[in-house]
Amino acid sequence: MNTLVTGAAGQLGREICRCFGRDGQVVALTRAELDITDHAALVAAVDDARPDVIVNCAAYNDVDGAETDPVTAMRVNSVAVRSLATAAQRTGATLVHYSTDFVFDGQTDRPYDESVEPAPQSVYASSKLIGEWFAAGAPRHYVLRVESLFGGGAETPGPDGRRLGSTLDRIVDALLDARPVKGFTDRTVSPSYVPDVAGATKRLVSQSAPDGLYHCVNEGYATWYDVARVAATRLGCESLVTPIRSDDVVMIASRPKYCALSNEKIVAAGARLPTWQDALDRYLTARTAAPERSA
Ligand SMILES: NC(=O)c1ccc[n+]([C@@H]2O[C@H](COP(=O)([O-])OP(=O)(O)OC[C@H]3O[C@@H](n4cnc5c(N)ncnc54)[C@H](OP(=O)(O)O)[C@@H]3O)[C@@H](O)[C@H]2O)c1
Repeated sequence: MNTLVTGAAGQLGREICRCFGRDGQVVALTRAELDITDHAALVAAVDDARPDVIVNCAAYNDVDGAETDPVTAMRVNSVAVRSLATAAQRTGATLVHYSTDFVFDGQTDRPYDESVEPAPQSVYASSKLIGEWFAAGAPRHYVLRVESLFGGGAETPGPDGRRLGSTLDRIVDALLDARPVKGFTDRTVSPSYVPDVAGATKRLVSQSAPDGLYHCVNEGYATWYDVARVAATRLGCESLVTPIRSDDVVMIASRPKYCALSNEKIVAAGARLPTWQDALDRYLTARTAAPERSA
């Protein structure tokens, strides 16, 4: 399988390149090598590589920044995805595109499945939802909603020397440094372990699973406070974690509170993702085995 990866230096991008590179050719394009908002350059890159699969890991992920810079968010997360879908159609490639739990408003108390109508509450969330719609314009496509990614490069710096990481990576950073951690008791998530997301993506593509929209998260859900407590218990420092409510923190963009996602559909398609506790355990094993954490 010949795969072209955009946003190849990001958390998911790096792992997708590793995973798909094990038994196939990968053309890995970082932002410096391909800005996906450059339509002509994008079409030329895809024409040149003639990939079987395009995996788009590029995104504008600054949720608060998008409120004051909506044009950039829309260009990267929406309009550029239309270019990718066009390029996929021209070459017959399958398009894989990632979206987010933030497309929902969080006003529920049970895990969202793919049939629930989105109701984005921020510019970032709207830009990602429009991106989903454009990705679905590719004749063969997988739109995979991920959530609270972790394990995408926090333990080892990438080739550019950068350590990446999201909320859970930063929680584990703090716990490993014996620093206190505050966990939201009123935000519920289904974390997505980056190696599991990459593995599930590859299984969908290589098994030619039915295309469409999937929730690509580890099984289960918990509040951020509970996730942090499980990590701290495993690391023997439970007392470092204290509860906090999201209403007590000022944030620019609105964020959904309840965002558990059901992964039943992707499991039924042949791509099982283990529980988030199992994933966290493997992640902590990798983190504590890493010879050098700081960069
Ligand atoms: N991280 C999460 O918790 C989370 C949650 C829900 C959904 N997602 C989705 O999951 C996917 C992967 O996210 P991630 O966490 O791996 O993101 P990430 O680590 O922020 O990586 C995104 C990459 O895209 C690149 N990029 C930004 N603008 C670009 C452009 N115009 N052209 C080409 N590349 C560009 C970035 O380059 P620079 O670093 O140079 O800017 C970065 O390398 C995204 O679709 C994201 O929206 C992530």
